[in-house]
Amino acid sequence: MNKYKIAVIPGDGTGTEVINEGLKVLEATGKKFGFEYETKTFDFGGERYLKTGKTLDKQDIEELRQYSAIYLGAIGHPDVKPGILETGILLNLRFSLDQYINLRPIKLYNEAFCPLKGKKPEDIDFIVVRENSEGLYKSMGEFQNKGTKDEVATQISYNTRKGVERCIRYAFEVTRKRNKGKKLTLCGKTNVLTFAWDLWQRTFNEVAKEYPDIKTDYAHVDATTMWFVKNPEWFDVIVTDNMFGDIITDLGAMIQGGMGIAAGGNINPEGISMFEPIGGSAPKYTGQNVINPLAAICAGAMMLETLGEAEAAKAIENAVIDIVRKELKSLGAGKMGYTTSQVGDLVVARI
Ligand code: IPM
Ligand code: MN
Repeated sequence: MNKYKIAVIPGDGTGTEVINEGLKVLEATGKKFGFEYETKTFDFGGERYLKTGKTLDKQDIEELRQYSAIYLGAIGHPDVKPGILETGILLNLRFSLDQYINLRPIKLYNEAFCPLKGKKPEDIDFIVVRENSEGLYKSMGEFQNKGTKDEVATQISYNTRKGVERCIRYAFEVTRKRNKGKKLTLCGKTNVLTFAWDLWQRTFNEVAKEYPDIKTDYAHVDATTMWFVKNPEWFDVIVTDNMFGDIITDLGAMIQGGMGIAAGGNINPEGISMFEPIGGSAPKYTGQNVINPLAAICAGAMMLETLGEAEAAKAIENAVIDIVRKELKSLGAGKMGYTTSQVGDLVVARI
């Protein structure tokens, strides 16, 4: 029997509610597929910050290194100034644990929930591989003459050859393994951001030579958003930088049916990965048992897949597909026709 150690960070707002459902599903899957695990819950988030002034320190990170994976709910608190928890906790975890890939599958399960007319599940089925450790997220830049009329603020996009290459290589591997259209699209802005995207394009072209079985393509990021709406069926796997990946995956979430279903993994292929629903803490729905837990449940499935429990992950996905097709009235909070915990129960019943 396997034994996994899972660090659970419910975080803020509805994070706790959705993670509870995810843990329920994990328990059912463990029993069914015969894997064992233990969990420890960590209280990192807005409440702890308001009480102690602490986000995450070196010791916390060291403790997390002992785990097989991290299961995260949501970070973001209405009483804390934007940026503090995001950089202090979420980005700190991603960077400290070198989770250099943000893997975001975009998959439509029920065409009734797609805002695009005439698009079917087979049309919206692709993966975004977002670089997760560099770019504009590196927090490099400065103010000059702050607060004066001559103020200048710079924010630097930092791209290393090594960082870009490991991300692109990972994306080629995902494309090969997925074996759908075997097509990898580089999404960038070579026509304007001529330093960063020159490096990305050159690296992409070089790595592509090692993958003759993979077709390659390029799309500017602005055009990519257009294709997401017009021809999402063109995509198989997309690789892009941190900022563009952040933006296009929110649009991706919408075309797959909304934040209620969108899951992601912060992956360190050689280390500890962290899985989360990509939506936020949704303060206005907190404590009402109305938020959709499926994104968190799907993130749990991604976690199991990464840990090597592919069969269990598939069972969760199949259960989710069945529920999204046959049971739910909507994927949105308060409109599902079921409460948060009932949706969790529906998944458990199908495992
Ligand atoms: C995401 C979120 C984060 C990001 C925020 C909360 C820092 O939007 O995971 O996409 O920008 O990466
Ligand atoms: Mn985002």
